[in-house]
Amino acid sequence: MSFFIVKGSGPLKGEVDISGAKNAVLPILCACLLTDEECVIKSVPPLMDVCMLLDILKSIGAEVSYENEVVKIRFLNITKNEIDTNLAASMRASFLIMGPMLARTGKAKIPLPGGCRIGTRPVDLHLKGFEILGAKINQEFGYVSAQAEQLKGDYVYLDFPSVGATENIMMAASISEGATLIENAAEEPEIHDLAVFLNKMGANIKMKGSGKIKITGVKKLKGTEHTVMPDRIETGTFMAAAAVTGGDIILKNAVLDHVQPASAKLAENGTITEKIRNGIHVYSTGEKKAFNIKTMPFPGFPTDMQAIFMSLMTISKGTSMVTETVFENRFLQAAELKRMGADIKTEGRTAVIEGVDKLTGARVNAPDLRAGAALVIAALASEGMTEIGEIQHIERGYSNFDEKLRKLGADIEKSDEEI
Ligand code: EPZ
Repeated sequence: MSFFIVKGSGPLKGEVDISGAKNAVLPILCACLLTDEECVIKSVPPLMDVCMLLDILKSIGAEVSYENEVVKIRFLNITKNEIDTNLAASMRASFLIMGPMLARTGKAKIPLPGGCRIGTRPVDLHLKGFEILGAKINQEFGYVSAQAEQLKGDYVYLDFPSVGATENIMMAASISEGATLIENAAEEPEIHDLAVFLNKMGANIKMKGSGKIKITGVKKLKGTEHTVMPDRIETGTFMAAAAVTGGDIILKNAVLDHVQPASAKLAENGTITEKIRNGIHVYSTGEKKAFNIKTMPFPGFPTDMQAIFMSLMTISKGTSMVTETVFENRFLQAAELKRMGADIKTEGRTAVIEGVDKLTGARVNAPDLRAGAALVIAALASEGMTEIGEIQHIERGYSNFDEKLRKLGADIEKSDEEI
């Protein structure tokens, strides 16, 4: 097991390059299945999730090269319509192969993604969409099988604006016969980036706003080139790192419009964010005041930033409150933060945080990707040393995380054994 060893760091200062967005690149790589021509995807971060997905795509016939954050990928032929369980079990995003594979070949057999620690993570909305487009769905032995001679566009209402379901249905509908209207669709920036990519391939997708997406099916898609949007959750993570340490940093490539909820909450807390050419300037006023967040689908406060901002709340003066409306069990960071001296009470989907003067370093474990990042953020502002285990969870979503933080003056090292 690897560890991050983090010592309380003074104010972070300097510049950091924000990488391509994990949650945009994963669906975009799956969308490449929709054509037999080569696609070139740039700004692909070297994440474990990216490497795992590329292995899965190679197992069904993709020719792949990946260097210097550029992926060249071509599905000249699909050699298999089934994804291997042990390849896909720990890789939820592999379910995003279902839509494009079904649309291109007429059949797909994908392991039913298990739940994870943050929630049961069902895929019923994905399957509802495929059935409306004309697919026959069968679930047995832990697999979902889908078959369709020819998908036909139709009206799909999503009971919840699910990111994955929106992406899967959008990809399947892009080469279906006729038009599809998705109502109550997710509108996260990553969905827009996928739509831009699909339209560059020759798809006809219109983001109509207010949760409406219209897809008019086309016969064939072609290869194209695309640079993935910057990662807004990594952006929010470094914004919080600046806030907790009272720092002053420049986030290069970051897009302020993608992180408005986080920016507004930091302003309430006492940290200012300003749009600059090709990035964001984030600087603390020296104050840290309590604030409340309620996670919501975009454009609301993103659930993926909830744990990270809870770390900031633990040392902000006053009483803060968090309501997590998207996932049913996303306070896993609370127990670990309490080991560092935080005062947090959780009840169902609500948490109340009383600001304390300081946190102290402790031996903790990353419970999941974003809770793990939250522990790093808290450790930067803690007195003494914090040892964070299970950091493979963190490395699924953050490339060169310790290196980027060290460049800003953080005292963080990666180690293969416990101190
Ligand atoms: C995507 O997951 C992201 N992952 C998640 O980021 C993110 O937290 C989530 O969207 C919400 O923004 C990727 O993009 C790879 P959902 P996804 O479908 O698509 C319920 C991270 O930290 N739901 O929008 O799985 C579901 O149970 C990860 O980078 C159904 O009920 O999220 C959940 O409560 C974590 N039925 C809610 O919707 C369905 O068929 C949101 O799920 C699908 C979802």
